[in-house]
Amino acid sequence: MLNWNDYNVAEGETPVSAPQQNTSVPPEVVSQALETLTEEAPLAPSSANDRVRAAAEAVASIDTAPGLEELEIGAARISVDEKAMINCRADLNQLVPFKYDWAWQKYLDGCANHWMPQEVNMTADVATWKSEDGLTEDERRIVMRSLGYFSTADSLVANNLVLGLYRLITNPECRQYLLRQAFEEAIHTHAYQYCIESLGMDEGEVFNMYREVPSVAKKASWSLDKTQVLSDPTFNTGTVETDQQLLRNLIGFYAVTEGIFFYCGFTQILSMGRRNKMTGVAEQFQYILRDESMHLNFGIDVINQIKLENPHLWTETFQQEVIQMILEGTTLEIEYARDTMPRGVLGMNASMMEEYLQFIANRRLNQLGLPEQFIGAQNPFPWMSEIMDLRKEKNFFETRVIEYQTGGALSWD
Ligand SMILES: [Fe+2]
Ligand SMILES: [Fe+2]
Repeated sequence: MLNWNDYNVAEGETPVSAPQQNTSVPPEVVSQALETLTEEAPLAPSSANDRVRAAAEAVASIDTAPGLEELEIGAARISVDEKAMINCRADLNQLVPFKYDWAWQKYLDGCANHWMPQEVNMTADVATWKSEDGLTEDERRIVMRSLGYFSTADSLVANNLVLGLYRLITNPECRQYLLRQAFEEAIHTHAYQYCIESLGMDEGEVFNMYREVPSVAKKASWSLDKTQVLSDPTFNTGTVETDQQLLRNLIGFYAVTEGIFFYCGFTQILSMGRRNKMTGVAEQFQYILRDESMHLNFGIDVINQIKLENPHLWTETFQQEVIQMILEGTTLEIEYARDTMPRGVLGMNASMMEEYLQFIANRRLNQLGLPEQFIGAQNPFPWMSEIMDLRKEKNFFETRVIEYQTGGALSWD
């Protein structure tokens, strides 16, 4: 007979492998045991059979259980007209029929662009980072600051999505995209961690920049401020004030955090990659930027849809407030550009970046249907749009040349 003592090894003794259990039981013993179980033996309280019976009774009573209406599982099949972006009372478990085809399409596109950080070769980056003259001091500062800001920024975005937005966006196809986006944010945080670990950076220093380096901390604190109300589990939409609060969060995260705060760091690192330096880090950023531009476009579509369905929220005062938010974000990002580029570096400088950020801010205002605030601002880095628009049949920096689209169609022929 096997018992637990057979596995216990006293301290100092050599462990022995557990004896093999003899599993060959004569068939007559099995059938005798089954007969006893099903016909003769009275069921002891709390036996397995009792539990199975209790579960069957509970399942049978589900049809008549009270409280189903509270779960909003109505008897009717839902129609497209019942769906709404916020404050929707229709069943959120029915994905179809789609009302917002664009949200489903973005979910499919996100899945088709799946990637993982470990697929990127970091060998050359490690050699460059560890070599005395691999990078200038100004270039090293850019790499450190970028990883410092982004390593915590994407956790912040993910927390906002999962702990705030997901509950308040009452549409299943948009929630499907939010789930995809949340996973992509996890991949991004993973990518930054992978870079930090590969390069052997001081993790404590990098992960605490969002608290310790003023130009990074101010951006993080601006974004965090937009999450505060939504992360309160008792917060609900349904009034003009609370619906506007949700809109503020959406604009703060999609249009400013992902739509402005990411652009100086992305441009700097991608410019480094174009100069054949830190190409692994640059490649990671390239894939992240591709994901981020989709997050941004999704967010803008959600915001505009809420405006369309709730025009009373988009008051003149609220529009002025949104313009102010975009301008604050732009100012913070320009401060970050000055802090990270005290001199010209990588073919760019702080004033070129300032114009680029003004160009980006105008674009965000346009996307939200608001007037441009920086008249005549031009894009000094047209190659950035090229990177974002690229379909990635081939890697931009050529560190790897495989097709990144996954999930190709299966052929059943
Ligand atoms: Fe991200
Ligand atoms: Fe994102």
